[in-house]
Amino acid sequence: MLRKFAQHGTSIASFAPSSRFLARTICKGIDYDAAKCIVELGAGTGPITNELVRQVRAGTRLVIVELDPDFCKRLRAKFPGADIVEGDAAHMDKLLADRGITQVDHVVSGLPLPSFPDQLRGDILASVARSLAPNGTFRQLTNMPYIYWKLYRGYFSDVRFNLVPLNLPPAGVYVCRGYHSAPVAP
Ligand SMILES: C[S@@+](CC[C@H](N)C(=O)[O-])C[C@H]1O[C@@H](n2cnc3c(N)ncnc32)[C@H](O)[C@@H]1O
Repeated sequence: MLRKFAQHGTSIASFAPSSRFLARTICKGIDYDAAKCIVELGAGTGPITNELVRQVRAGTRLVIVELDPDFCKRLRAKFPGADIVEGDAAHMDKLLADRGITQVDHVVSGLPLPSFPDQLRGDILASVARSLAPNGTFRQLTNMPYIYWKLYRGYFSDVRFNLVPLNLPPAGVYVCRGYHSAPVAP
């Protein structure tokens, strides 16, 4: 992760994988018995994938989307049998359509969305919104607690924040519902 951070900066935006505390918190509240499809965006070395693979029920589709080919290779070795898609989160709905999936119950994101240009961030969230079930959640981790609440409120009507003080550095998770649109440019 440190090497990738040095190479790619803003598309990685973190030099260490998420802790198990953060991985558990981002998945907290998911009804695994009811979920038909869960998608992870930006899996990196797989700390959140690990939690999802442990919890997901037989019959639930779990799709992991990661842009970096080296991380994909590593994820496939670590989670044989998991559906690891090498692709861009901005095309999430198309990647899912290729698999016959039209609706997702939960999207769990480790993407560094605030570091992305507005256009890319907007494209990713619009793609997520096209697939998300009406009561579905978009879950976004952050290493900067509370700071981006307003950013996500620009896209979702309901944004809650769960602090993870035991992560180093202290981190947290935004749980977002009710996508409305891209924010109006200032
Ligand atoms: C901060 S790392 C998160 C890693 C991991 N989820 C964790 O919690 O430790 C961000 C990950 O997003 C991936 N990524 C960046 N842009 C992406 C994109 N457009 N589509 C899919 N993955 C992307 C990077 O390759 C990297 O693995």
